[in-house]
Order: sequence, then structure tokens, then C-alpha cells
Amino acid sequence: MSNDFKGKVALVTGGAAGIGLATVEAFAAAGATVVVSDIDRTLGEALASRLQAEGHSASFIACDVTNADEVKALIEQIRAAHGRLDCAFNNAGIEIEQDKLADGNEAVFDRIMDVNVKGVWHCMRHEIPLMLEQGGGAIVNTASVAALGAAPKMSIYSASKHAVLGLTRSAAVEYGKKGVRINAVCPAVIDTEMFRRAVEIEPRKAEFAAGMHPVGRVGQAEEVAAAVLYLCSANAGFTTGIALPVDGGATCI
Ligand SMILES: NC(=O)c1ccc[n+]([C@@H]2O[C@H](COP(=O)([O-])OP(=O)(O)OC[C@H]3O[C@@H](n4cnc5c(N)ncnc54)[C@H](O)[C@@H]3O)[C@@H](O)[C@H]2O)c1
Repeated sequence: MSNDFKGKVALVTGGAAGIGLATVEAFAAAGATVVVSDIDRTLGEALASRLQAEGHSASFIACDVTNADEVKALIEQIRAAHGRLDCAFNNAGIEIEQDKLADGNEAVFDRIMDVNVKGVWHCMRHEIPLMLEQGGGAIVNTASVAALGAAPKMSIYSASKHAVLGLTRSAAVEYGKKGVRINAVCPAVIDTEMFRRAVEIEPRKAEFAAGMHPVGRVGQAEEVAAAVLYLCSANAGFTTGIALPVDGGATCI
């Protein structure tokens, strides 16, 4: 068995930057037809055009995952263009700077939950029916190590990622016998724009972040992408409902 995705159609939400972008590139390199989706049309279109110029099969569909109609239209466009969806990486997510829980702000709570939880839920409820029609598929949701334990001064984000695991595990059980495998990746700190924005606000976070991983560094987006491709591949045929840490050992200390 191999990580060959020739003939497979793969969707990546939040695909224009960071972990999503690295996963788009990994799917393309593995031969998949990749649908890049993101709220950022400029970055997304540029990425799809670059991949096409490099000889890959790629397209961009703009979609805000918090918008039910846009997510429905995204999956309908994939059905119309490709007739199937084999792999879906529900990765779009946000982090907004927070303080301790009692100092929390309701607008921040609603926004984080909307993107990180409702966004994943919208995507799954439209992806799963198409996968059931074709007899199976693989979904990977982006959670976080913040879904596996406490995340001080990130309690809303942590709660949102715990919820992603709830959706992942419940749906994995509901659709296991129908051939739809549903897993989550739980990255620790990964060097993307999200991390760089946090360091800009609080420069001490760079050193702290490196130190929280036993491997002594933050992770690279490509290292998460490799885990996503594994979970989407036939190699992971007996793996469903898991929350896979991609964390440089952070969760074992
Ligand atoms: N970077 C980290 O340290 C880290 C760690 C653990 C988990 N994560 C998770 O990984 C995922 C990707 O994070 P990243 O670091 O690559 O972030 P990023 O900010 O670099 O990229 C996120 C992408 O998602 C898109 N996006 C944001 N809101 C959207 C929406 N409503 N609809 C569609 N697209 C939207 C953005 O335009 C952007 O292209 C997120 O779910 C994040 O919570 C990141």
C-alpha cells in the first residue's frame, strides 16, 4: 500500500495558507485532484494557478465555512465538477487572543465557535452524504493539542477544539460501517501565520513554544500535512475516530 492519491479528489478548507497550504501541496504531489477552499480568494486563486502551472490538477472555490449556504454550494460544485469527494481535510480555523476565562468576551466566544466548531460541522454534514453515495471516503478534521488538555489563556479555543473531537468521534462511530473514516489531527505549535501573529503580540511566545516540545522546536506545516495524508490513505484503512497528536512529544510531558 502507498500514499498514491491518483484518481482521488481531495478538498482542503483553509487551504490557502499554513497547514492547509502544505496539505494542498502534499495532496497535489501525491497525484490527487485538489480543491483548495478558503475565505481568502486572492491567496487561494494564486495557489491553484501555481499548482496548475506546475502540472497538477487543482482548482479554487471560495467559501466561508461559517456560512451554511456557501459550504453547501462548495460540495455541490465539487459534485458537479468531479462527481466524487474521496478525502476532505476540514482545517479552516482561527485563534483570537484571549485572557483568563473570567475576562472573556462573548463576541470572541461566538466567533471562535462559529469558525472552529460550526465550520467543521457544516463541512462534515455536506461531505458525508457525497461520500456515502460513492461507498466511502476519508475525513480529517484539524483539532489541536488544546483539544487534549488545558490551554491557559486559550480556554475558548481549547473548548472549540475539544468540540471538534466530539464531532469527529461521534461521526466516526455513526458512519464506520458505511466506509467513511473520520479522524482528527492534533498539532502542537506549528510555524504558520497563526503562530507568527501570536509571537508578534507576545514575543516571549517564540521561546516558550520551542521549549514546550521535547524535540526542542516548533513543528512545520509539512509535518502535519504528512499525517493528514496518512490518515486519508488506504494505509490507515483500520483507523477511525482517532485524535492523532502531531506535537513533537508535547503531550507526553
Ligand atoms: N499553527 C498552529 O500552531 C496550530 C496548532 C494547532 C492547531 N492549529 C489549527 O490548524 C488550522 C490551520 O491553522 P494555521 O496555523 O495553518 O492557520 P493560518 O491562519 O496560517 O491559516 C488558516 C487559513 O484558514 C483560512 N480561514 C480562516 N477563517 C476561515 C473561514 N471562516 N472559512 C474558510 N477559511 C478560513 C484563512 O484565510 C487561512 O488561509 C486551524 O484550525 C488551527 O486552529 C494550528
